[in-house]
Amino acid sequence: MTALKNDRFLRALLKQPVDVTPVWMMRQAGRYLPEYRASRARAGDFMALCMNPELACEVTLQPLERYPLDAAILFSDILTVPDAMGLGLFFETGEGPRFRKTVASIADIEALPIPDAEKDLGYVMDAVRTIRRELNGRVPLIGFSGSPWTLATYMVEGGSSKDFRKSKAMLYENPRAMHALLDKLAQSVTAYLNGQIRAGAQAVQIFDSWGGSLSAAAYQAFSLAYMQKIVDGLIREHEGRRVPVILFTKGGGLWLESMAESGAEALGLDWTCDIGSARARVGGKVALQGNMDPSVLFAQPEAIRAEVGRILASYGHGEGHVFNLGHGITPDVDPAHAGAFIEAVHELSAQYHA
Ligand code: CP3
Repeated sequence: MTALKNDRFLRALLKQPVDVTPVWMMRQAGRYLPEYRASRARAGDFMALCMNPELACEVTLQPLERYPLDAAILFSDILTVPDAMGLGLFFETGEGPRFRKTVASIADIEALPIPDAEKDLGYVMDAVRTIRRELNGRVPLIGFSGSPWTLATYMVEGGSSKDFRKSKAMLYENPRAMHALLDKLAQSVTAYLNGQIRAGAQAVQIFDSWGGSLSAAAYQAFSLAYMQKIVDGLIREHEGRRVPVILFTKGGGLWLESMAESGAEALGLDWTCDIGSARARVGGKVALQGNMDPSVLFAQPEAIRAEVGRILASYGHGEGHVFNLGHGITPDVDPAHAGAFIEAVHELSAQYHA
């Protein structure tokens, strides 16, 4: 394997010194880029893009051609796992993800297979191998999956949801069924992420997009406990390097202390928490990733630069910060504004690493 030319992202996750704060953006390959829209049109649709390793590689690299990002993230989706469990994922234009089959009973849950990473999700593993080859050591590659709770909401609701009506009803009236589903998902996600690590992912992020919808008690028992199981089962060293794990619970700012006990190297923060206070609470244990409001990118470059400066000052001097948005970049952002954001992080952060 080629040596990494830029490893400041991996170093920051391990709280090692860096020259400037590394930066990447959640959803950095996506609809705000005209070249992404062109590749998706050539593929036919979003799932065809995910399932073609050459095209998935092409769109993964697009933001890196434009910007000096410090990491690449596999182009795929968290819902490939429930799809491989037989639920039949499809995307209705403008409507978000949908499943042909949903999960409602213990019998449905017992019938779900645990996918084999290479056999059932081989197109993702092939994409990881292709991207690593094409990156040729430029920057590290991030693999990812959804958290068990976040995946369970889509499987029970049959798609996106505003109130999580069916999944929360199951959680409260049939906790045994919900635990059985989450346990199966934790096993599936562990195998899936270990497959990505063997194929070449150099760090992994668990997206718990809907953990923040839970009560404090339910978060511990139905989301964090299963992410903990995954962390416990992951390959922690590959190609002679630590493979850092990032836990990102959107809306999880109140629970950082318990997340920091999970054994993950880093926590992702959304924009609702102050990163300096978060560092004071958990910075002794974990690195922090975040946390600019993605909507700041609608403002002019000078305003973006000011907000980057404020977040850097809030985190303060020293190691353990990966700059990111607090959630994914949105489709109508001007690509030039994303460029101004990345440039500002590198320029303004050098003083904090002197
Ligand atoms: O960050 C990256 O660049 C990697 C690619 C990535 C995608 N989805 C591509 C995608 C990642 C990491 C995801 C994760 C994902 N997918 C999450 C967790 C992160 C989060 O945002 O909280 C969730 C909840 C999903 C499920 C999902 N996939 C939804 C709800 C949608 C529709 C969203 C929308 O804005 O319409 C998707 C589709 C999707 N996944 C797109 C992309 C680029 C848009 C599809 C398109 O091109 O039309």
